[in-house]
Amino acid sequence: MAIEILLRYLHFISIFAIVSSLVAELLLLKPSLKRKEIERLAKIDGIYGFAVLVVLAAGMSLWLGGHGKPAEFYSENALFQIKLGLFLVIGLLSIYPTVFFFKKRKGDPTELVEIPNSIFWTIRLELLLAFIIPLLAGLMAKGIGYLD
Ligand code: HEM
Repeated sequence: MAIEILLRYLHFISIFAIVSSLVAELLLLKPSLKRKEIERLAKIDGIYGFAVLVVLAAGMSLWLGGHGKPAEFYSENALFQIKLGLFLVIGLLSIYPTVFFFKKRKGDPTELVEIPNSIFWTIRLELLLAFIIPLLAGLMAKGIGYLD
């Protein structure tokens, strides 16, 4: 019981960290940025990456660790499968800005770098998908979407 509560807590705070780091990235992004500003974005993106790993680890443990409901309760739920699919899509989308920030942070810190529009849109799309997941999670926790 105590472990389940801890896992849920980790699951939630890492979701907060994911959303807040994506919002911070969007607020700091401008059509052109100095390399030192991109370095800061790369650091925020590192927090995002760490939070993704924690949400995944806590989610996997809640799913397969036998702490609460049986694993089939989730595995055989269509909304849970969609939730995992969306999580995967967000992870794949995030590779693009992560690689961009990582590469462009190097060099003269005062040099200006053009930020492609696609970086803005990718992060906006990640956030949009991340907002859908809690709804699916709430429904699946109530057994809605269970395939018998
Ligand atoms: C951005 C990614 C994610 C978000 C926003 C998210 C959101 C949530 C939320 C809001 C809940 C609480 C549901 C409730 O009690 O009403 C939850 C529970 C859960 N999540 Fe996630 N989740 C994410 C990723 C994952 C991943 C990757 C996994 C599995 C690998 C996972 C597995 C679970 C499980 C097993 C529960 C327990 C549901 C229950 O209470 O029965 N989650 N998630």
